[in-house]
Amino acid sequence: MKVLGLETSCDETGLAIFDSEQIADDNRGLVGQVLYSQIELHALYGGVVPELASRDHIRKLVPLFNELLEQCNITKDEIDAIAYTKGPGLIGALMTGALFGRSLAYGLDIPAIGIHHMEGHLLAPLMGANPPAFPFVSLLVSGGHTLLIAAKGIGQYEILGESIDDAAGECFDKAAKMLSLEYPGGPNIAKLAETGNINAYNLPRPMLHRGLDFSFSGMKTAVHNLIKDTEGSDSVPQVRADIAASFQHAMVDTLVKKCIKALKQVDMSRLVIAGGVSANSYLRATLETELAKINATVHYAPPALCTDNGAMIAYAGYERLQAGQFDDLAVSCVPRWPMTELPAL
Ligand code: KG4
Ligand code: ZN
Repeated sequence: MKVLGLETSCDETGLAIFDSEQIADDNRGLVGQVLYSQIELHALYGGVVPELASRDHIRKLVPLFNELLEQCNITKDEIDAIAYTKGPGLIGALMTGALFGRSLAYGLDIPAIGIHHMEGHLLAPLMGANPPAFPFVSLLVSGGHTLLIAAKGIGQYEILGESIDDAAGECFDKAAKMLSLEYPGGPNIAKLAETGNINAYNLPRPMLHRGLDFSFSGMKTAVHNLIKDTEGSDSVPQVRADIAASFQHAMVDTLVKKCIKALKQVDMSRLVIAGGVSANSYLRATLETELAKINATVHYAPPALCTDNGAMIAYAGYERLQAGQFDDLAVSCVPRWPMTELPAL
């Protein structure tokens, strides 16, 4: 089954073709994908401007779709089904992809399905020939969400913990801004941290001993104070690198300890990490080391499938479509959508 996936929930226009018949050891079934990031468009304003995002998705969808068909060397008549992001996200931005996908499916007389953006992230590491088996604990860490989930199957999600304020990615972005690094901050902090000392400064590990919830708003105050304390010397490259490394170390340490706590609480031995922050190589490496000590394993997708993309939506769509689920002609996008409301397969 060839599924077209469309992702337009925020500031990336992502389209991809997933083909279940092309899954092999060295191939995730991903026939091709195109991604257009609006970062430059919003940079002037210091954050995503929803109306500008919607207008730009509209401008890009058709040309990107044509580019994707050419890249995959297929015609639109060869597409069997369409999956689009239905929520959560910016409502205007969601509507562009949903209406494009729903109309195209109607025109081609094929099924369409609306997908939960975070389920797309959660399932992305499962694309391929040897996916980690259910049940597992999932750590979803993106720009808007930080969730620890016990996943017993597709659509069977129990929320074990979540951030009570800022998301992990948001915290990376804010710390980066304070260090005058460009958006998105995560990859830039990671790069700067490479030459820094992780033990140079001791930053807080918020709520470490309180359940499985997270709180990251205090981290940005801590980074702010640290930058103030080192004022003058913050222009010295080594000090900046040390701040980035100590910050990343504190964030990763907090995430890793909560993951281990979650695995023990639900007595599971597999951890799947997903969402933009899961592309962080220090997080991956630390999890590999720490989970090995408790005989648990960590699983993740290649970096390009961690941040927003159309492939994860195509794959989540495929799983639900092949189980017989699809949406009717009505298009209803939702800015907020608890994952626990998703139907089980
Ligand atoms: O999943 P995503 O692409 O979009 C949302 O759904 O939010 O996540 C974007 C977030 C941004 O906050 C970005 O700074 C962060 O993921 N991110 C990273 C890395 N790559 C992206 N954070 C830390 N390390 C990275 N390598
Ligand atoms: Zn995302």
